[in-house]
Amino acid sequence: MTRQGKPWGGRFREPTDAQVEQFTASIAFDKLLYRYDIEGSIAHARMLSRQGIITAGDERAIIKGLKAVLADMEKERFDFSTGDEDVHMAIEKALIRKIGKVGGKLHTGRSRNDQVALDVRLYLRDEISRIIDLMTALKRALVRLAKQESKTIMPGYTHLQKAQPVLLAHYLLAHWEMLDRDEARLRDCRERVNVMPLGAAALAGTGLPIDRAYTARLLKFPRIAANSMDAVSDRDFVAEFIFAASLVLMHLSRFCEDLIIWSSDEFGFVEMADAFTTGSSIMPQKKNPDVAELIRGKTARTYGNLISMLTLLKGLPLTYNRDLQEDKEPLFDTVDTVKSCVAIFAGMIGCIKFNRERMREGATGGFSVATDVAEYLVKKGVPFRESHGIVGRLVAYCLEKGKDLPDLTMGEMRRFYKGFAEDVYVCLMPENAVNAKRSLGGTSPKMVTDRIRAIEGTSARKRRK
Ligand code: ARG
Repeated sequence: MTRQGKPWGGRFREPTDAQVEQFTASIAFDKLLYRYDIEGSIAHARMLSRQGIITAGDERAIIKGLKAVLADMEKERFDFSTGDEDVHMAIEKALIRKIGKVGGKLHTGRSRNDQVALDVRLYLRDEISRIIDLMTALKRALVRLAKQESKTIMPGYTHLQKAQPVLLAHYLLAHWEMLDRDEARLRDCRERVNVMPLGAAALAGTGLPIDRAYTARLLKFPRIAANSMDAVSDRDFVAEFIFAASLVLMHLSRFCEDLIIWSSDEFGFVEMADAFTTGSSIMPQKKNPDVAELIRGKTARTYGNLISMLTLLKGLPLTYNRDLQEDKEPLFDTVDTVKSCVAIFAGMIGCIKFNRERMREGATGGFSVATDVAEYLVKKGVPFRESHGIVGRLVAYCLEKGKDLPDLTMGEMRRFYKGFAEDVYVCLMPENAVNAKRSLGGTSPKMVTDRIRAIEGTSARKRRK
């Protein structure tokens, strides 16, 4: 090695410009991958020895050396700031420091191009599993809350205008459905992450008799990248993951937005726990939903990461280009963001208090049962378009008189349609309005309990598997 100890130094006469050193270095952030880099290298060394490319003695020395480097790193005894370009070179150099020249045999039959693709895939495979665990816990918390609020009635909104009464449990399970799709998307994405690129070498494969299937077995990869050029240039899985994470955050952000509105004095539907809110430095009365606001804010940052990643890839000629080094910060940032948001969101809704009376009150006013009156008339044989018109005129009348539908007398109602009978008052109760929504997927207690039962059945089956 010449040129300040760089493994690629051979063909260079002059040292690298100091600014270029700094500019091209990724060690400050890719050091996060050290465990995966060493795990990959150990598997690679075992394969090289099994194939007779290095001796069993070389293999033992290399693995022992790598484990010693790992131990230094785990115990934070390793100095990452000694001017190495990236984590791969830092580890290789440390290995050679520990075991001497034989350490130089590790990089046989591979390149940093397939090595870095391997590290990122190993890292992301692990992190996706962690994120899925956090999401499973959050989904469980939502079901718990839905059961607890199985009788709470709230106004459902469209256009943020009071629309129809619904069960709070139904609202909560709507979010469960979103998170369930997100989880499925992450599992699906993990399938495509879980493909081994190692052995693609720089881009063309290698002339040495490597055994990729053996390395894949050691590293528990069910699949091996089939094309070496694709293997070193593919970062689809990074973009795909950031997209899946963006949807998780978008869903949390929408939930947060509701909670922020609901915790305002004007709504008063929820009270967040002191532990999950903050005060104002000037207004003593304030209790602000900052956690929810920050989740909403961090969603924007993840979208930024997605756009960075897509833009990074769009003009790249095959195969590896150094631009690809820029995949790491958006990816790492997204992983950290989605993990912290899901975890803290679960904590926040775990100690939220719903004001059931306020919600019930909110569900009554604002003509929220107008559609139920229209459906009442349909049951009496009135065509829906006509009944819609009748109730519309009733509402206009109410607005003029400053009344709500339940305040109307039979006489007043009959002025608009002769067939109104006393039983109309029953359908004006929000409980009855909710009970009536027995269509599949509707908000009736029957449908909601059925859904909870189905969800719990599926998750019990999943746990048993
Ligand atoms: N630090 C580099 C990256 O993250 C590693 C691969 C470097 N390969 C190369 N041909 N310069 O992409």
